[in-house]
Amino acid sequence: MKLLLFTKSKVHFQALFVFLFLFAFSTTKLVAQEDGEKLFKSYCASCHSTGSNQLVGPGLAGVSDKYEREWLYNWIKDSQGLIASGDADAVAIFEEFNKIPMPAQPVNNEQIDAILDFIKASEAAAPAAEVVVAETTSESTSGDGSSDGGLFVVLGLIILFLIVISILRGVSHSIQTVRAEQIGAQNPEERTMLQAFFDWINANKTIVALISIVILSFVAKLGWDAAVDIGIYTGYQPEQPIKFSHKLHAGTNGIDCNYCHSSASFSKSAGIPSPNLCMNCHTYIQEGPQYGKEEIAKIYAALDFDPVTKKYGTNQKPIKWVKVHNLPDHVYFNHSQHVTVGKIACQKCHGPVEEFTVGKQHESLTMGWCIDCHRETKVQMTDNGYYDEIHKRLPEKLKAQYLEDGTITVSELGGIECAKCHY
Ligand code: HEC
Ligand code: HEC
Ligand code: HEC
Ligand code: HEC
Ligand code: HEC
Ligand code: HEC
Repeated sequence: MKLLLFTKSKVHFQALFVFLFLFAFSTTKLVAQEDGEKLFKSYCASCHSTGSNQLVGPGLAGVSDKYEREWLYNWIKDSQGLIASGDADAVAIFEEFNKIPMPAQPVNNEQIDAILDFIKASEAAAPAAEVVVAETTSESTSGDGSSDGGLFVVLGLIILFLIVISILRGVSHSIQTVRAEQIGAQNPEERTMLQAFFDWINANKTIVALISIVILSFVAKLGWDAAVDIGIYTGYQPEQPIKFSHKLHAGTNGIDCNYCHSSASFSKSAGIPSPNLCMNCHTYIQEGPQYGKEEIAKIYAALDFDPVTKKYGTNQKPIKWVKVHNLPDHVYFNHSQHVTVGKIACQKCHGPVEEFTVGKQHESLTMGWCIDCHRETKVQMTDNGYYDEIHKRLPEKLKAQYLEDGTITVSELGGIECAKCHY
């Protein structure tokens, strides 16, 4: 057990390092536009992308160049007013979008400036983002070795099986031949290619035995690695009832994780969004880039929604998503404790989800994984209301340590006591 935890901790330390690096890289770039980004995500992202993709409204790339700033202030704060005043641009775009009204947004001019700056910066940052994408992909493929490993194991076993069979066949064949000769009869069978092959194997048993040993050790090594390093469920990727892609939603269209998994920040579970939430966008977006109408139609089927009349029927049934992550019942895990109190990014535990076209399990979720992180991670006590009380009640030794270097790990606060995680 000790040995196991130790090897794991090395592997995870590396993974952690890569992630820290990626995070540092992506956050430094974004700090300046954070406010604009936040505002955009909370007010505009449900209907607009920062690129040229059309959601409910048009993609907003290049919008600062297209219109006067004053016009944009007026439009965003009260598009209906502007249309009513007969402004030609406003009326034209309202017509173009089938008279879907854009609701008046509760933002002031400074906030609009920040949002427009963020949109502009996202255009400029687009090529840089691709570099990050490339790095994450190579990282995640190396973590995915288990599925390739599985393929090798199966192939190796098949080859081994064939060789064993042929040796046995070869032996029984030579016995038959000897018998036949003893009886004095002619060998009745025609010599086929296959028999020639078996005969060759029969004549070269040493070579065949050597090859088998090499293959066998190779297979054993792969199996061992898969079990020890990667963990059996890492990469688990069940087929889902709708081909929902995180890459398309959270990646390409930049929809915030919290938009769909909002309960992660305040409750135990992150939850899977209900089909009604999908309809915020899919009432209007009826076709996708890859599957056309087929996959989105499954959302409509679940809600008994008619995309033409836009009316809901009564024959509704839930979408049966397959749960990817499954901790055993005896383990207690709480999202808000990690996301809100611990301030840990979703990607640290779930991997670069915004790159996944199909949901999958990125980490092993073993006890060793939880404990490694609790040993290594320093709690973020500064400006974190949750810890005010805890800090006051800390034992003197820890208080002194905190004053000295400002660091206390989760485990020093009791985060590896059995009862914290086990009912
Ligand atoms: C509920 C959906 C919705 C929200 C939220 C929303 N918009 Fe819009 N927006 C639209 C629609 C729809 C249009 C197309 C015009 C129309 O039909 O009225 C539009 C048009 C625009 C246009 C004109 C674009 C062009 O290329 O002509 C701008 C600029 C704009 N929105 C900015 C914003 C900003 C900034 C926010 C956030 C503060 C925002 N919108 C929030 C739906 C929305
Ligand atoms: C548009 C809505 C939407 C957004 C945005 C979104 N998700 Fe999801 N998420 C889903 C749906 C639907 C599922 C269930 C289908 C699946 O597993 O692919 C899911 C499943 C998951 C799962 C697997 C859950 C399980 O079954 O164990 C994880 C982990 C996850 N999302 C994390 C994230 C993270 C991290 C982000 C932000 C980068 C994000 N999601 C953004 C809708 C969304
Ligand atoms: C905030 C807006 C938004 C929400 C919420 C949303 N989607 Fe989407 N969805 C999009 C956009 C944008 C596209 C891509 C349209 C395009 O590029 O033509 C899309 C495309 C799709 C596609 C088509 C994929 C393809 O390649 O053909 C499917 C399927 C889909 N979404 C499923 C869902 C499901 C299921 C939910 C709810 C869990 C959901 N979406 C919630 C915005 C959204
Ligand atoms: C400290 C690690 C960690 C962090 C950070 C984390 N998760 Fe999870 N997540 C887990 C574990 C472990 C499970 C499995 C829980 C279970 O089976 O009870 C899980 C399960 C899920 C599920 C499946 C549904 C559910 O609630 O069980 C979704 C969706 C999900 N996480 C999304 C997110 C999102 C979105 C974020 C960021 C806001 C996030 N997670 C942050 C570890 C984490
Ligand atoms: C990426 C690092 C990381 C991983 C992985 C992780 N945790 Fe944590 N965990 C933290 C941090 C940081 C805190 C501190 C937040 C706090 O003080 O409550 C924490 C706190 C906790 C607490 C509260 C501890 C206390 O002293 O009150 C529990 C319970 C917990 N985690 C369970 C788990 C379980 C179960 C898993 C594995 C399924 C897990 N954690 C995986 C980082 C992690
Ligand atoms: C940080 C959270 C955490 C702490 C602390 C923790 N465990 Fe666990 N434990 C887990 C998780 C997660 C699993 C499930 C692992 C799996 O299914 O692979 C688990 C599984 C187990 C199992 C079942 C093993 C198995 O293979 O199914 C036992 C027994 C166990 N823990 C005992 C303990 C004892 C004893 C302690 C105290 C010394 C402890 N745990 C502390 C998270 C924790």
